Order: sequence, then structure tokens, then C-alpha cells
Amino acid sequence: MNNVNGSTQQQTWSQVDDYLNALLIPSDSLLEQALRTNTEAGLPAHDVAPNQGRLLQLLLQIQGATRVLEIGTLGGYSTIWMARALPEHGRIVTLEAEPRHAEMAQANLTRAGLMHKIDLRVGPALTTLPDIQEEYREPFDFIFIDADKPSNPDYLRWALRLARPGSLIIGDNIVRDGEVINADSTDNRVKGVQSFLKLIADNPRLEATALQTVGSKGYDGFVIARVLDSPTAK
Ligand code: SAH
Ligand code: DHB
Ligand code: MG
Repeated sequence: MNNVNGSTQQQTWSQVDDYLNALLIPSDSLLEQALRTNTEAGLPAHDVAPNQGRLLQLLLQIQGATRVLEIGTLGGYSTIWMARALPEHGRIVTLEAEPRHAEMAQANLTRAGLMHKIDLRVGPALTTLPDIQEEYREPFDFIFIDADKPSNPDYLRWALRLARPGSLIIGDNIVRDGEVINADSTDNRVKGVQSFLKLIADNPRLEATALQTVGSKGYDGFVIARVLDSPTAK
């Protein structure tokens, strides 16, 4: 698909991201090095884009978050963005199933001088979440769900258990080239996202919106939900 400039849509999206990021996002050698390290180690390029990382930061700051839960660490790129936005006493619990990914994350976060704010747990999140509930008595202010999509409905249930009124829950990758509207999809990732969105929609403790995004990471989107003080009728 060509646009007026003769480039493909994806090229235009990437060029516009480059333009916006160059304008608005100070270049940061540690973040760039983390991405390079992840690529060289053959990790999937599923890290958030720089402008998305910046959005996570801004949301954390607006929220005044000090306790963050991330499900899906990969090489710690999104973790670095979020850790930077936290006060010194802030903490991110980040969950990663793949030991090799967690190793890269540990190296990247250590190089960035952020490991003192991080509790990185290796193992399938549904196995480590009960430990987190046991060990962390205070609720999380901000929960970023970005791991295996078939488990999203379970992650939402955990997020609700670990949140407080006013907490934010962000879910990444909810559009996936528009596949989310395919009601006949047999892809467990798509079905996971559809059930996740339906659970959010139907939950009287949540108010939410979702946005489609285009950019260097293609066509996708995210959902933002806020835990209410008192349940609404739905
Ligand atoms: N948040 C990261 C990207 C995460 S990619 C960033 O933006 O930089 C998704 C990650 O979830 C992968 O590293 C994958 O190994 C991990 N994952 C997959 N299944 C998981 C599970 N059951 N529990 C925890 N992590 C899982
Ligand atoms: C996938 C996962 C992600 O978290 C992401 O941002 C992009 C792709 C995936 O599993 O394909
Ligand atoms: Mg993602």
C-alpha cells in the first residue's frame, strides 16, 4: 500500500516516529544500548517503541506511582523507561518466563544503574504472581500487562487482586493489525485479547479506554483501565 510520498505505509509510520522521537525524546545511550544488546542476543523485537516508553513514563509520573508491576520483561527496555520515572524509593516488580530474556534484562538494568529499584522474577507469571501477592502487602499503583496474550484474562484477574482504587492497568498489543475484530479468529493470542477486553468492559470496578497506534512497531494499540473507588452499574 503506497501513500502520496510513494513509500509504504509502514515506512511512513517509521519515518514519522523517527521525526517525533528526534524532536521530543532526548537520545539516551543506555536505552539505545539495551536495544542493541537485545537485538544482538537474538531476542524478539517486542520491546515498546521509544515514544511508547515515554508514554509509560508520563503515565507513571501523572499517577505518582511508586509501586509498579510489569508482566513480561523481555530485555528490560520498558522496565528501564519506567524505572527512570520512579522516585528513588520506588520499585518495579517485573515477571519474565524465559531465563535468557531475564538475564539480558538483568544486564541492561544493571548497566543503567537501576537494579536497586527492580525485583525481577524468573518463571511463568502465573507461578510467580502468588509469591508476589504473598510478599508484597501494599497494592501496586501501576500494572503493565505485556507478556503472553492468551493469559491476559488471568493477568487481569491478578491485576485486580493486586491493585487499589485509583491504580492504572495498561495492556499492550490489543489490536494486532486489526485482528482483534475477527470474531472467528482461532488464534489463542487474539482470543486472549478479546476476552481480556470483554472482562475490562464488564467489570464494574474499571473505567477504560483503548487506542489504536501506528508507528515503528506497526499497527497495534493499548488499553488503559483505572480502578474505581466504588463500582459502577454496568
Ligand atoms: N515489556 C517488554 C516486552 C515484553 S515481550 C518491553 O516492552 O521491553 C513479552 C515477554 O513476555 C517475553 O519476554 C516473553 O518471554 C514473556 N513471557 C511469555 N510468556 C510469559 C509468562 N507466562 N510469564 C512471564 N513472561 C512471559
Ligand atoms: C508480541 C508481543 C509483544 O509484547 C509485542 O509488543 C509485540 C509482539 C508477540 O508476541 O508477537
Ligand atoms: Mg508488547
